[in-house]
This record gives sequence, C-alpha cells and structure tokens, in this order.
Amino acid sequence: MIKPYNTAENKKKEIKKMFNNIAKSYDTLNRILSLGIDIWWRKKAVKQLNNPKIILDVATGTADFAISAAKNTNATITGIDISDKMLEIGEQKIKKLNLENRITLKIGDAEETSFKKNSFDAITIGFGVRNFENLDLGLKEMHRILKKNGQIAILEPSIPTFFPLKQIYNLYFHILLPKIGGWFSKDTSAYSYLPNSVKSFPAKKQFLEKLKKIGFTNQRHISLSLGIVSLYIAIK
Ligand SMILES: C[S@@+](CC[C@H](N)C(=O)[O-])C[C@H]1O[C@@H](n2cnc3c(N)ncnc32)[C@H](O)[C@@H]1O
Repeated sequence: MIKPYNTAENKKKEIKKMFNNIAKSYDTLNRILSLGIDIWWRKKAVKQLNNPKIILDVATGTADFAISAAKNTNATITGIDISDKMLEIGEQKIKKLNLENRITLKIGDAEETSFKKNSFDAITIGFGVRNFENLDLGLKEMHRILKKNGQIAILEPSIPTFFPLKQIYNLYFHILLPKIGGWFSKDTSAYSYLPNSVKSFPAKKQFLEKLKKIGFTNQRHISLSLGIVSLYIAIK
C-alpha cells in the first residue's frame, strides 16, 4: 500500500497527518502546480450534475469543490474530511465568500459516514479517492448514501499516454513537482507521495469496472486537459 510516510501507522492516520501538515500551503501549491487550471476541472465536474438540491462533497479539504458547487448550482452542500486543519482553511474561505448558508463542513470519514442511506442527489470527490485507505469501502459507502438516480462525480489526476506529453508530464510529476511541493510545504514526503499514489491508482478502464461492480450504472470517463486529469461520472 502506498503511504506518505511509511511508518507503522495505518494509511488513514498518515493521510490525516500529511494533509494537516500541508493545509496552509495546499491552495497556493494547487494553483502553482496546476497553473490555475484546477479551478476549471472542478467547475467542469459540477456542470455535469443534473440540477442537484443536496450535494455531499467528500474529502472536501479546503472546500474548493464545495465552493464551486455553491457557485454553479443552487444546491445546499455538506463537505466532509478527516483533516481538521484542511477544514479550518475551508471554513475561513466559506465565511469570506458569505457562503455559510449554503455550505456546512464536518469532520467525517468517507469509508464510514453517519449519513442515512439515500441522502444525497449528488456526491463530488475531488482528488480524494486515491487517498482512501480502502477504496472499495469508500465507494460502497458513497453508493449507500446516494439517492436512487443520484450522480457521483470523481476527479483524479491521471497519466497522459501519448508522446511527447507523457514524457514531459513524467519529468514534471516525478522530478519538478516533488521539489517545488516539498520546498514550499516543507513536507517532502507529501509531494513524493502524490506521483506515487497516482501511479498506483487503477487505470481508467479498471476504475470504471470497479464503479460498476459496486453497483453504479452509466459510468463514464471524461478526459480533461489532454489526459492529465480524469473525470468519472456514474449514477446509482
Ligand atoms: C488532495 S485533497 C483534495 C481536497 C479537495 N477535494 C480539492 O479538490 O482540492 C484530499 C483530501 O482527502 C481527504 N481524505 C483522505 N481520506 C479521506 C477519508 N477517508 N475520508 C474523508 N476525507 C479523506 C484528505 O484529508 C484531504 O483533505
């Protein structure tokens, strides 16, 4: 199992520790490392949703996906995350944008939530599922709490497959990104974990198969920014 620090602690504890460590620099680094396109990826994902009224943003972190959902739908949004420090930054942003009446953030584990079954019209997960300790358990829980015909939208980084982007991307992702990320966040392990975890995440076809096996239907993949990000959409 790919973990950030390779200690005796389980992945979930290490992930929480890692995001608590990098919370303050997370947003700035996201903007720098993605050249600002990450905002567009989340917006593109939200635009795929069919007018949801109640959204759950899982692994919400600093709430960027939840904020995009608030700006681009009329829904009420709940965001959950295991990292209290990421949520603290998210709370500050929500307050600054006067979105407190639209977005509520809570500590919560995607693999075992306290929500009743069939609770949400849509679930969004931005760059989160790769970090779950047990991916299947997390996806099953999403399926349980999603309403019938509800949609799930998942964003994940992916590796482009064609020359020369694949080669440029590998250089950037495995050499430049860990250096910039480590230097800026002061957590070198966090930004080495990022490319390693992307590499070990299921390929598009396998991930779509997994969604189907768990019980989702109409699962599809949308390639964003020449394949450096994957958007998966499925229905319960
Ligand atoms: C890369 S950040 C993504 C944050 C945000 N969704 C975004 O689009 O920027 C991944 C987040 O997943 C959270 N996370 C990882 N495992 C989780 C779990 N089992 N339950 C809830 N959150 C989790 C981490 O704490 C972290 O805040």
